[in-house]
This record gives sequence, C-alpha cells and structure tokens, in this order.
Amino acid sequence: MVMQKTLVLIKPDGVQRALIGKILSRFEDAGLKIIAMKMSWIDKDFAEKHYWDVKQRYDQRILDNLVRYIREGPVVAMVIEGVEAVAVVKKIVGATYPSEAAPGTIRGDFAHMSKAHANADDGKVGNLIHASAEKDAEHEISLWFTKKEMHSYKTVHDWHALNLK
Ligand code: PPS
Repeated sequence: MVMQKTLVLIKPDGVQRALIGKILSRFEDAGLKIIAMKMSWIDKDFAEKHYWDVKQRYDQRILDNLVRYIREGPVVAMVIEGVEAVAVVKKIVGATYPSEAAPGTIRGDFAHMSKAHANADDGKVGNLIHASAEKDAEHEISLWFTKKEMHSYKTVHDWHALNLK
C-alpha cells in the first residue's frame, strides 16, 4: 500500500465562485483524508517560489500569468493523504485545460476554458485547482505547511476501506 501526501490549492476563482465546499466533497467522497488546510493570500515572492520551475518548462509570460492568477484573491491550501494520492487527486481534478477535462472531474464539471483561448486572451487558464505532480509533492507540501500543521488521525475509511486498526 503506497500512502502518499499531495498539495492541493483551490485557486482564487474557486474561492470567489463559492466552490470550496463542492470541491472538498469530491476528495472526501473518494475517501481521501485532508490532513492540513488553511486560507492564504500569497505575495509575489511566494507565488514565484511555488511556480519555481514554470519559467524553465514554459516561459516568463506563462509564469507572470500564473503569478497574477494565483494572487487574484485568497486560495485554500490543503494537504491530502491517501493510497497513491498524487495520481488519484490528479484524476479527480482532471486535465490542465478545462475544455479537455472529462465530465465528472472538478475542472470538467465547473470550468470550460481552453488552451487556445487562454493563449489568445489574457493567458489565464482558469482551472480552479492546483494539484502537485508526483515529483513536486514533497517540495510543495514543505513550502506551504510545517510538520506541526499536518495532523495524523483516523477516518472511517481507514477502518472500513483500508482495514487499518
Ligand atoms: S499541470 O496541470 O500542473 O500538470 O500543468 P502543467 O503543464 O505542469 O502546467 C504548469 C502550470 O502552468 C499552467 N499553464 C498555463 N498557464 C497559462 N497559459 C498557458 N498556456 C498554460 N499552460 C499551462 C497550468 O495551468 C499549470 O498551473 P497549475 O497551477 O500547476 O495547475
């Protein structure tokens, strides 16, 4: 059993559209465990730390757009734990561009922005959520949360689904 932790951010559009509860329930319904959570309105420096590799992977324009987008308002940050949680959370969240995200995923159900429109318009991919990639999860969690802010507790899924005692 591969227990993993991953970082999820509900971006400013998700908070402003009052989707926090609906988004959280997608993860809770799947039996994933929220082990840390807070609301933060991050500054430019922190946003650039979070998106530290975007400039190399894309370019300065995309980095600037992402930093502007993530700072449009407060975000809800959380650490989610579960079996193979990084991939499972990405599956629940859906593809990066909401127009390509399957129905039933968060991005597919609550957004429809396409890559082409984002590139032609203001460069914002309003996709509601950030979820760590496998290689980034540990680093992103340690950027957003201290060890003390993460909690260890049992949920009903630990007893019933995972058969933990
Ligand atoms: S993902 O979903 O994290 O796997 O996507 P990735 O390809 O790694 O992209 C990293 C972040 O860049 C954003 N992105 C863009 N922003 C603006 N314009 C364009 N064209 C664009 N393409 C990708 C993408 O939404 C990712 O942001 P996060 O916050 O990680 O989802």
